Amino acid sequence: MRSFSLIFKQFSRSVLLIACFAFLGLQAHAQGDAAKGEALFKAKCTSCHKVDQILTGPALGPQLTEETDDKYLVKWIQNNQALITAKNPKALAIFNKFEQKSMTVFPELSDADVTNIITYVRSDWKTLQAAPKPGAGAPGQAAAESGPSDVVIYSLLGVIILAFIIILVLNRVIATLERLLLKNKDGIVLEEEEVEGEPVDRLAGLKKLAKNKKLVFFVLICGTLALGSWTWVTMWTTNVHQGYQPVQPIKFPHDLHAGAMKIDCQYCHSGAYKSKNASIPSLNVCMNCHKVVKTESPEIHKIYDALGYDPQTQKYDSTKTKPMQWVRIHNLPDFAYFNHSQHVKVAGLKCQTCHGPIQEMKEVYQYSPLTMKWCIQCHKRTDVNMKGNAYYENLQQVHDLLKDGKKVTAALMGGIECGKCHY
Ligand code: HEC
Ligand code: HEC
Ligand code: HEC
Ligand code: HEC
Ligand code: HEC
Ligand code: HEC
Repeated sequence: MRSFSLIFKQFSRSVLLIACFAFLGLQAHAQGDAAKGEALFKAKCTSCHKVDQILTGPALGPQLTEETDDKYLVKWIQNNQALITAKNPKALAIFNKFEQKSMTVFPELSDADVTNIITYVRSDWKTLQAAPKPGAGAPGQAAAESGPSDVVIYSLLGVIILAFIIILVLNRVIATLERLLLKNKDGIVLEEEEVEGEPVDRLAGLKKLAKNKKLVFFVLICGTLALGSWTWVTMWTTNVHQGYQPVQPIKFPHDLHAGAMKIDCQYCHSGAYKSKNASIPSLNVCMNCHKVVKTESPEIHKIYDALGYDPQTQKYDSTKTKPMQWVRIHNLPDFAYFNHSQHVKVAGLKCQTCHGPIQEMKEVYQYSPLTMKWCIQCHKRTDVNMKGNAYYENLQQVHDLLKDGKKVTAALMGGIECGKCHY
């Protein structure tokens, strides 16, 4: 009977230990929330926002007081353009206050991500106000405010509760068994003598634990859960090249051309408005200016070399031309169809919505994840602008006819458009 209680004691102690570890893990995870918010803020927002200073956008500390409506903020941060097109008065006010500069949309951020960012900003603002010296914020306190919000946390909680239930049930079972055994004292004496007669084995405890099927099962479950979540995360981030920033053959600075000089994106990427591809400009476009601008720069001489241009004689030698091998940054797989004009011209989206603050980049990097989830989430959250679009006006007409119980001809459905019958 003693060996029974011994095993049980060791078992329940180890379960408690595991539960404690799980709980600690949960604490660490909860702290990770504001830390997550901080990481997201630094990766996505610091190009335009500071907590305590106006940059391209407003200082977020005073903007995100406790009274501000979180639901509105989540909507704004995920897709501010939708709020502006929907003529939300609050959104319009801030948009006009900042000279109608556009903020990037972040369809890839989940509600929880945005809440993490808000929590981080609030706690950082609090510490900034409390201490004159800028500190790193108080992630722990912030986490307590936002509370854990992940599936992981709920499953951890589930495991902990399960562990306690197991302990309780086993306690009952042991108590019953002990009572039963008390009735058969002879057996117990024998057993006890056997136990005491054994030499001391240091690993005995471990061996007993290993024999305990429930404990082994419990540990296996924990291991499987950990391995499973690791695989899950790895699989989601495979082949996602967010942040990809290859070295280009010419150090072409977008911050100078599109930012400081305010050259319209269209000047070099005219395809974006007319066709599927935005296209990279030919070097002749650069020559419009660089025939005379910065002619001494070695970077500009790369343009001359590629065109076979001699700045002394100002003549082109067509035998010396070689193509400029820009490294492609954004690249969807071939089986996905993405059309720029559909998004830039028809939907009226700004380039920065998907490509980030290009006008501030010294070297272009891939700003958005370009995953299917990213495409779909924006499609789910963006309203279509129906006005002034012949295609949607036609749909409206068809809809009205059907509502009145009238017939719809093939012509109305596009049957007289040339492209439908001719290649
Ligand atoms: C490309 C620059 C840019 C980036 C990146 C950016 N913002 Fe903004 N943000 C702005 C501008 C500009 C405004 C002012 C409103 C306007 O003109 O659209 C603004 C306004 C806001 C507001 C005020 C909304 C209101 O109605 O009070 C919040 C909150 C905000 N941004 C949060 C964020 C967060 C969080 C991120 C990162 C996930 C972020 N912004 C990234 C430029 C940016
Ligand atoms: C003076 C010409 C010029 C202007 C203006 C310009 N770009 Fe570019 N852009 C280039 C060249 C050249 C490259 C290729 C080299 C590189 O990636 O830096 C490029 C590359 C890019 C890429 C990466 C393409 C890839 O490989 O995936 C994006 C995105 C982009 N530009 C967006 C913009 C946006 C948005 C603007 C306006 C804010 C803009 N560009 C303005 C010349 C220009
Ligand atoms: C509308 C005029 C214009 C066009 C078009 C233009 N640039 Fe420029 N570029 C400039 C000016 C102005 C500067 C800045 C000169 C300075 O720093 O004083 C500059 C600077 C540069 C520099 C930095 C040179 C250095 O050594 O600091 C590079 C590299 C460059 N341009 C490459 C290109 C390339 C490649 C293209 C074509 C895709 C291009 N530019 C198109 C006007 C232009
Ligand atoms: C709705 C999101 C979205 C918007 C808005 C957008 N782009 Fe893109 N852009 C993409 C995607 C996705 C790719 C990758 C396309 C591919 O690999 O087929 C890309 C690729 C590019 C490329 C390199 C490949 C190419 O198509 O030539 C350039 C340059 C570019 N974009 C410039 C621009 C400019 C300039 C604007 C604004 C006029 C703009 N983009 C607006 C999503 C967008
Ligand atoms: C920032 C928001 C945004 C992102 C990101 C975005 N789209 Fe779109 N997309 C739109 C909007 C808005 C429309 C509707 C345009 C319209 O018809 O007014 C649209 C329309 C389309 C259409 C035409 C649908 C139709 O009914 O004919 C296709 C195809 C498409 N998108 C593909 C993509 C792909 C592929 C990606 C990801 C690589 C993507 N989009 C990312 C906003 C987005
Ligand atoms: C419903 C289908 C359909 C539509 C819509 C349509 N076509 Fe045609 N088109 C045809 C067919 C079928 C022929 C071949 C008739 C023949 O050979 O006698 C043809 C022949 C032609 C020809 C003569 C070619 C030749 O070699 O003689 C021209 C030009 C033409 N179409 C232009 C247009 C234009 C422009 C539009 C848009 C305004 C248009 N079509 C819309 C079906 C269509």
